[in-house]
Amino acid sequence: MRLGLSLSLAALAAGYVVNEDRTCTLYPESLQNDGQPVDDAPSIQKAFELCGTDGKVVFAANHTFNVNSVMNTTNLLNCDVSLRGELRFSTDIPYWLSHSYSVVFQNQSTAWLFGGTNVTFRGEEGGWYNGQGQAWYTQNRNQSNQPGRPISITFYNSTNLLVDGLTIIQPQFWATFVWQSKNVSITNFFVNATSNDEWGTVNTDGYDSWNSDTLLVENAVVTTSDDCIAVKGNTTNLLVRNVTCHWGFGMAIGSVGQYPTMPDYVENVTFEDVKCYNCMEAAFIKTWQGVPEDDSSNGDGGGGGRGLIKNVVFRNFELTNVALPIQISQCIYTENGQNCNTSKMAIEDITWSNIKGTSRYNIVASLYCSDVHPCPGIKFEDVEIQSVNHTLGLPLSDTTLQNEVYQCTNLVDGSGIPCNRAAPSNYGQVVTSNVKDDASSTESSRDPIVEAKKKEQEKLAYMH
Ligand SMILES: *[C@@H]1O[C@H](CO)[C@@H](O)[C@H](O)[C@H]1NC(C)=O
Ligand SMILES: *[C@@H]1O[C@H](CO)[C@@H](O)[C@H](O)[C@H]1NC(C)=O
Ligand SMILES: *[C@@H]1O[C@H](CO)[C@@H](O)[C@H](O)[C@H]1NC(C)=O
Ligand SMILES: *[C@@H]1O[C@H](CO)[C@@H](O)[C@H](O)[C@H]1NC(C)=O
Ligand SMILES: *[C@@H]1O[C@H](CO)[C@@H](O)[C@H](O)[C@H]1NC(C)=O
Ligand SMILES: *[C@@H]1O[C@H](CO)[C@@H](O)[C@H](O)[C@H]1NC(C)=O
Ligand SMILES: *[C@@H]1O[C@H](CO)[C@@H](O)[C@H](O)[C@H]1NC(C)=O
Ligand SMILES: *[C@@H]1O[C@H](CO)[C@@H](O)[C@H](O)[C@H]1NC(C)=O
Ligand SMILES: *[C@@H]1O[C@H](CO)[C@@H](O)[C@H](O)[C@H]1NC(C)=O
Ligand SMILES: *[C@@H]1O[C@H](CO)[C@@H](O)[C@H](O)[C@H]1NC(C)=O
Ligand SMILES: *[C@@H]1O[C@H](CO)[C@@H](O)[C@H](O)[C@H]1NC(C)=O
Ligand SMILES: *[C@@H]1O[C@H](CO)[C@@H](O)[C@H](O)[C@H]1NC(C)=O
Repeated sequence: MRLGLSLSLAALAAGYVVNEDRTCTLYPESLQNDGQPVDDAPSIQKAFELCGTDGKVVFAANHTFNVNSVMNTTNLLNCDVSLRGELRFSTDIPYWLSHSYSVVFQNQSTAWLFGGTNVTFRGEEGGWYNGQGQAWYTQNRNQSNQPGRPISITFYNSTNLLVDGLTIIQPQFWATFVWQSKNVSITNFFVNATSNDEWGTVNTDGYDSWNSDTLLVENAVVTTSDDCIAVKGNTTNLLVRNVTCHWGFGMAIGSVGQYPTMPDYVENVTFEDVKCYNCMEAAFIKTWQGVPEDDSSNGDGGGGGRGLIKNVVFRNFELTNVALPIQISQCIYTENGQNCNTSKMAIEDITWSNIKGTSRYNIVASLYCSDVHPCPGIKFEDVEIQSVNHTLGLPLSDTTLQNEVYQCTNLVDGSGIPCNRAAPSNYGQVVTSNVKDDASSTESSRDPIVEAKKKEQEKLAYMH
């Protein structure tokens, strides 16, 4: 029988791959090894070598594949991948720290480089990616950007790639990264990074993109403590639609402007039909300051990068208990707001439209543009947000400002924005209290050392 023959040949030659008519079906090595979690990565590599061009690769349903080593399945052509079983990534942290593939950006790395032309990758029949991230969260101890901590899967050098139905539970670091690609769609996407101990999941972004064009993210649910979607430099023509975020930082452009030698251009990005539950932020733009600075608490330094963010729309957002719904910050990682007014990143034509729901504190928006590049074309339409207490008829604590605050600095023509206060330069990503009273007293009454320490602690707890 043909199937049996190719099974035994493939099993001898290449691990457990059944190769028939350009379809490679994978079964786990553990079936032949008394249930031991023998590494399936070599047979997975083999399946992609055999069937990665004009073929199909199927991970058989109801099986657990142990991935104990890095995978590079790039340069696929006309290939359809069906992830039906569970891909369980090992928790040998020293191995991954020293073997993950570089993705160049921020010196970060990945456990799996995946890509090609005219490729589909579908999660089907309950197939999923198990990052076993708890081991990472626990050993990471709330550090930011631990070098070598791997991105779960990086879609690299791809053209016409559709990723549908991908589920990633407890990603090791960022769940997905789209890099140097064109026409990549991620649909029906589910990520849940939740820690079950006292350490946070820090840096478990749902989706990041860099140097890529014509992108779609549609129908996604992301639970994370970091950015739900983060758009890095040279991302153009991205549509993000129908995304629900739990916790985390919602929809972010940035951070950008990190590297003086690599300008960042972000153009034509739309986020629509977004729900944010208990998020720290919902719809924001974050750039580095204009002067390079070490920021080892963030795992790396940066600043001084040039570039432009243009034509960004955030529309149809429903917010529930969001700490800082709308923000532009131009010195996202400087602790004391120093050099905030120096950012070389220009920001223009940004619209927030039909943004409704509740904020956690009395702040709706903090829009700070640098002195170097005041922002033209910043527009609000139908932004209607009230603090949770306001909707309950309760007073806001520890503040003389009982109405919503809109902080603005250096907007050229903020249309439809009821600015009622200057945006302080040091207003960070993490907001943990109401805005107290007028801007001058906020800045002058702060002890800079106490404030820096407090911010450092907040950052360790939440940020990247
Ligand atoms: C996988 O398990 C489900 C539930 O037990 C079953 O319905 C399905 O037929 C199984 N699929 C395969 C390919 O064995
Ligand atoms: C990945 O594999 C491709 C061959 O398909 C090779 O050209 C490339 O150098 C490999 N990348 C890495 C990082 O090893
Ligand atoms: C990457 O790390 C190396 C060595 O630690 C450092 O010299 C380099 O500047 C870093 N590159 C980036 C882009 O951060
Ligand atoms: C990829 O698919 C498109 C559309 O079907 C086709 O025009 C193109 O030739 C394909 N590319 C390759 C390299 O086969
Ligand atoms: C990127 O993909 C193209 C095909 O689209 C291929 O020719 C090239 O070798 C790939 N680059 C790398 C570094 O794998
Ligand atoms: C973009 O990729 C999709 C698959 O996701 C494909 O159907 C479509 O034809 C591609 N578009 C172009 C212009 O090739
Ligand atoms: C994410 O996982 C946690 C822990 O298992 C669970 O409590 C939570 O409901 C999950 N979130 C979603 C949206 O499924
Ligand atoms: C939005 O996405 C969710 C989650 O993937 C899905 O259940 C729902 O059907 C989508 N809504 C629309 C209108 O497509
Ligand atoms: C972005 O693209 C420009 C060219 O348009 C290039 O000069 C720059 O280095 C790219 N930036 C990054 C971060 O790769
Ligand atoms: C952005 O969209 C406009 C209008 O559709 C288009 O003219 C422009 O080329 C796009 N920019 C990029 C970088 O693709
Ligand atoms: C909301 O009201 C409750 C009860 O008065 C109070 O404890 C809490 O601090 C208030 N929250 C804010 C953000 O002001
Ligand atoms: C780590 O950060 C999380 C928030 O992500 C916070 O809840 C937790 O208290 C921090 N853990 C410790 C031990 O400081």
